[in-house]
Amino acid sequence: MMDAKHFEYKVAASGRVNIIGEHIDYCGGKVLPAALSLKNTVYVRPNGTNTINISWTTLPDKVSLDIDRLEEYRGLKYGNYQAGSALMWRRAGHRLVGCDMLQDCKVPFGSGLSSSAAIEVSTIAALATVAGEQFDNVEVALCAQSAEREYAGVNCGIMDQYASACGKKGMAMLLDCKTLDCEYLPVELGGYELVITDCCKPHSLADSKYNERRSETEEAFAILQKQLDITCLADITPVQFSRCAHMLPQVLRMRAEHVVNECQRVQMAAQAMRAGNIELLGRLINRSHDSLKNLYQTTGFEPDVLVDAARNHPACIGSRLTGGGFGGCTISLVKKGMAEEFEDYLLKAYARRTSYNAVCYHAEISDGITVEKTV
Ligand code: GLA
Repeated sequence: MMDAKHFEYKVAASGRVNIIGEHIDYCGGKVLPAALSLKNTVYVRPNGTNTINISWTTLPDKVSLDIDRLEEYRGLKYGNYQAGSALMWRRAGHRLVGCDMLQDCKVPFGSGLSSSAAIEVSTIAALATVAGEQFDNVEVALCAQSAEREYAGVNCGIMDQYASACGKKGMAMLLDCKTLDCEYLPVELGGYELVITDCCKPHSLADSKYNERRSETEEAFAILQKQLDITCLADITPVQFSRCAHMLPQVLRMRAEHVVNECQRVQMAAQAMRAGNIELLGRLINRSHDSLKNLYQTTGFEPDVLVDAARNHPACIGSRLTGGGFGGCTISLVKKGMAEEFEDYLLKAYARRTSYNAVCYHAEISDGITVEKTV
């Protein structure tokens, strides 16, 4: 078994939470994610061959990828994300060199905290590092997004890969997904702290439902564009929307209404964070979840139970599902010093009402890609 200490570099990229701005990155909206200290770490060294050899700290599997046949690994159970990432990096014009990689994923799979983005981003950064290349984090994020779309079949936006690559310690990112302009905002929550809870429900339908939601927003855009001078759904103001909403069939109207209002909530949330108005942030977080539940319909029984239970605790001023939805993690704003009591209550309340046991993760807001030379 390869041991981490035999590698030349340690390259890591983060999982993320999204504070607010859900399902609007692919509509050209602004989102407010933050990178987490839960990371995928790739230990890497060049091996002088034409092969990328991959092993894992948590799996017995070993996979060898031929650099010239990277299209052929879509069907792999493990190693497909790495193959897709390497392929996209190469297609973008970068040199790949043969290497040995040990992958150590501390982002829980299927948690909605973007383990896949962390794997893709760290793999590309590791490949660039071992090839002696200075890389641009945004380009790494864009290639990682292509890998997710073209290789994993999830037609995702840029939020996760951007956050995974470009995160900064202690900062949220107000990311404009149309222009990729990013404003870093300190996450100073005053008398509150963020609690992350996984509802631990497997969500296998998520990818197809995700793509379905995305197509619905594209259909809504195609209709509204005939009436309005817009380049994406996120351009629409609530006033414009109230005038044009009747043009849309009911389901598309619900989806578009979520997008238009969620874009407003992000602006208000950023303002609330700048002003230190955490109670307002909590209310916006609640409204975001309610809109995902009622209009966008990407929550589900278990996440809704978890959010309801959280909101019933007096220490909690806001709770919502974060990420793509249909399962995964919630974030809750909880009074400082009461998180332990809150978690205890929440896990018990959830277990009573569902057939799953939830888990709380303890993570800091951290840097995105990090590279260390180890020998
Ligand atoms: C997933 C996608 C992101 C984003 C979120 C929903 O995490 O990868 O691009 O669309 O869902 O906000």
